[in-house]
Amino acid sequence: MQDIIEKAKKTHILSKNEIVKLLKNNSDDLFNAADEVRKNFVGDGIHLRALIEFSNICKNNCHYCGLRAENTNVERYVLSKDEIIKLAKNAVDMGFRTIVMQSGESKVFSADTLADILLEIKKLNPTPAITLSIGELTTEEYKILKKAGADRFLLRIETTDKELYKKYHPNMDFENRARCLKDLKELDYEVGTGCLVGLPEQTLESLADDILFFKEINADMIGIGPFIPHKDTPLKDAKGGSFELALKVMAITRLLLPNINIPATTAMEALKENGRIIALQSGANVVMPNITLDNVRKKYEIYPGKTSVTYDNLENKLQQIGRIISKDCGFRGDSPLTLNPSPLGRGKHPRKIKQARYLRKNMTPQERKLWNTIKNNQINNLKFKRQHPIGEYIVDFICIEKRLILEIDGGQHNYKKNIRYDNERTKYLNSRGFQVLRFWNNDIDNNLEGIIEKILSV
Ligand code: 5AD
Ligand code: SF4
Repeated sequence: MQDIIEKAKKTHILSKNEIVKLLKNNSDDLFNAADEVRKNFVGDGIHLRALIEFSNICKNNCHYCGLRAENTNVERYVLSKDEIIKLAKNAVDMGFRTIVMQSGESKVFSADTLADILLEIKKLNPTPAITLSIGELTTEEYKILKKAGADRFLLRIETTDKELYKKYHPNMDFENRARCLKDLKELDYEVGTGCLVGLPEQTLESLADDILFFKEINADMIGIGPFIPHKDTPLKDAKGGSFELALKVMAITRLLLPNINIPATTAMEALKENGRIIALQSGANVVMPNITLDNVRKKYEIYPGKTSVTYDNLENKLQQIGRIISKDCGFRGDSPLTLNPSPLGRGKHPRKIKQARYLRKNMTPQERKLWNTIKNNQINNLKFKRQHPIGEYIVDFICIEKRLILEIDGGQHNYKKNIRYDNERTKYLNSRGFQVLRFWNNDIDNNLEGIIEKILSV
């Protein structure tokens, strides 16, 4: 078993057979390895996402979900535009840097109305990242919402086993769901997906396929939770998923997609006391506190136990396990990988090249935006390379001919330790005759032209 874990830690690639073996095994080594990879690739910061459940109306009838359309025991609600914006403002005032807007699938708001809400939320200061979790839409609708400021989208594939998918999702189409995920990627959303663990008849092989699917679509976020039977659903008498198996699926996902964001899901906590903290020590790095007001919160009962999970004392609990609350928006790649030399292995060149290749494949949205503008000698015929190893560092972009390096900074550069590290790094690069220009993610988002001018002037 240890050899499979070592391979996963090194290469982040496993076969289906190897994944199944890990799923069958019951040692803590898997969780410890996932925790180590989490620490090396995304650091100790926990990203908090403020969750607003703005409507529980759903037209679908997923067999496992308490909000399914045919469940007449649910009192349905929709928050008003003003209520949503007010909740978002409170969240930003409390220090949250991401707002997650979640609802059943119903189109209670048209894409245009939602776009108006997003535009208002984007005016808040500091501007939060916005995640949507509102189900399957048309390509055009995803486009409208992206343009209005949505940064991320959560859409769990639920299971990649097509037979099971069909069985538990009447009138839904696996291919359309996959189309949605593809659209979202192409539209440059950060894409979150995930699966339920422990559905009746679900096999370990099918869970392995789910994990390989996450890797194949290069998802940016993965939410995994155990299936918990709800009394008002066709699966009311089913056994339900186990916490341990869900934790294994999550840990293997961390090994295979080392720099993504993985929430410690509410279902983990609902099933096991302290489940969220255990998840955070087994690969997870995100928590999504629910900030919907109590009067409607109880009406969003997807599974039993969900609405009583609390967030009291969270900061303390995180501190106790040596974790800190992150101050930035927590996009994928806003991680210390490029800052902290330890995971790169000092002076080991081949490994560095591999890491650089990895980073090239997994650029942040801002890196991609700048790269699209400067690649192929587009500006003044300057030849830029990306994620290029120099000594023991990997620089974001480099024009070797002009000895110019461009670095993009996310919020994590604010930490004291990182400022010191950045200074050392700049000193070293200067000593090799390179000039380093640093830009903030914000600059790339809002003032790309200014950045190009600056590069040209230098
Ligand atoms: N148990 C656990 N998770 C569930 N979900 C829906 N029903 C259940 C359940 N009974 C999850 C689905 C969905 C998310 C919003 O909640 O994966 O994508
Ligand atoms: Fe609706 Fe989502 Fe529940 Fe399915 S899982 S019934 S789409 S709220």
